[in-house]
Amino acid sequence: MEVKFNIRRYNPESTNAVSHFQEYQLDMTNASTVLDGLIEIREEVDGTLSLRCSCRSAICGSCAMRINGQAGLACNTKIIDVLPKDGSPIIIEPAGNLPLIKDLIVDFEPFWEKVRAVDPWLKPEGEEPEAEYLAPNEDMLHLAEVMSCIMCGSCVSDCTVLEVDQDFLGPAALAKAYRFVGDPRDDANDSRLKMLNESNGIWDCTRCMQCIEVCPKGVAPMDRIMALRDKAMEAGQKSTNGSRHANAFSDSVKHSGWLDELKLPLKSFGIFNIKAMIGLIPLGIRAQLNGKRPPIFHKSIPGAKNVRKIFDKVESGK
Ligand code: SF4
Ligand code: SF4
Ligand code: FES
Repeated sequence: MEVKFNIRRYNPESTNAVSHFQEYQLDMTNASTVLDGLIEIREEVDGTLSLRCSCRSAICGSCAMRINGQAGLACNTKIIDVLPKDGSPIIIEPAGNLPLIKDLIVDFEPFWEKVRAVDPWLKPEGEEPEAEYLAPNEDMLHLAEVMSCIMCGSCVSDCTVLEVDQDFLGPAALAKAYRFVGDPRDDANDSRLKMLNESNGIWDCTRCMQCIEVCPKGVAPMDRIMALRDKAMEAGQKSTNGSRHANAFSDSVKHSGWLDELKLPLKSFGIFNIKAMIGLIPLGIRAQLNGKRPPIFHKSIPGAKNVRKIFDKVESGK
C-alpha cells in the first residue's frame, strides 16, 4: 500500500529555522502503524527526522503527536485507519500546547510542572503506618481508569482552554489530582480541593470533551474534572466564581426554564466585586450595540414548572 506522509519539520539550528511541511512516500502494509512509517522514514529515507518513541505498545506515552489534526499515539494508530480516501497524505505534526523543540519533539517540562503542582503523592495524616495500608478493593475501583494514564500528553495537546490560556492546569494534571482526591488513603482533600478550586483549576475547563476524545487510555479527564467540581461543592468550598457560576446557572434554569444572562455574571462574580463589575461594562456595551443585550425583565418560559419538576426529581434522587 502506497502511503504519503506530510510531516511538519522544524530545526532550530538551521539557518532558516521556520516550521514547514515535508512530504515522504512509503510502501506500507495494512498492519503498519503511523509509528512504523515514521521509523522507516528516519531509518531508510531521512535520518534528520526527529521523533520520540520507545515501547511501541501504547505503554510509555512517548509517541503522542497530532495525526491529521488530532492528538494520539503514533504506535497504536494504524495507517489504514487514518489514510485519507482521496490519496492525500497523512498529516503529522508535533503535539500541541507544549513548546516545540525539533520536528515532532516537544518540551514536556510545562506538562510535568503542572503534574507536580497537584502534589501527586499520598498525604496520610497521623502516625506513620506500621504496615502497608490496604485500601478496600471497592474503594479503589473508581480509580482504575484514571490510574491507567500513561502521561502521554495527548489531552494537553488538544485542550481548547490551553490553546488560549497556558496557565490552566490542564486535563492530565487535573485527572492526576482526582486520582489522589479519590484515594481513601489520602487525608489532604481539603487543601487539595482548595488549591484546585482557585483560578487556572477545575473551573476553567469549558467541557469541550476533546480530552476524552483523544485519550488513548480511557482516562476521561473531563469527567474527573467534573467529579472534582462536585467534590469541592460537597466540601462546602463554594466561594469561587466557578462554583457560584454553576449554582447561578442551575438556579436560573430551575426558576424560569432558561438562563437569565443578565443576572448570571452578577451572581458569578458577586455584585460587590467592583473590579469585576467594571470589567463587565465593555461586554455590556458590545452586547447592547450588537442587539444581544439580554432582557432586563427575565420572564419564565411556558412550561417552566415542568423544568422545576425535573430539578426536584433529580435533587430528591428519584
Ligand atoms: S474538556 Fe476541559 S480539560 Fe478537557 S480538553 Fe476541553 S477544556 Fe480541556
Ligand atoms: S489522561 Fe489520557 S491523554 Fe492525558 S496524559 Fe493521561 S493517558 Fe495521555
Ligand atoms: S512508543 Fe510508547 S506509547 Fe507509543
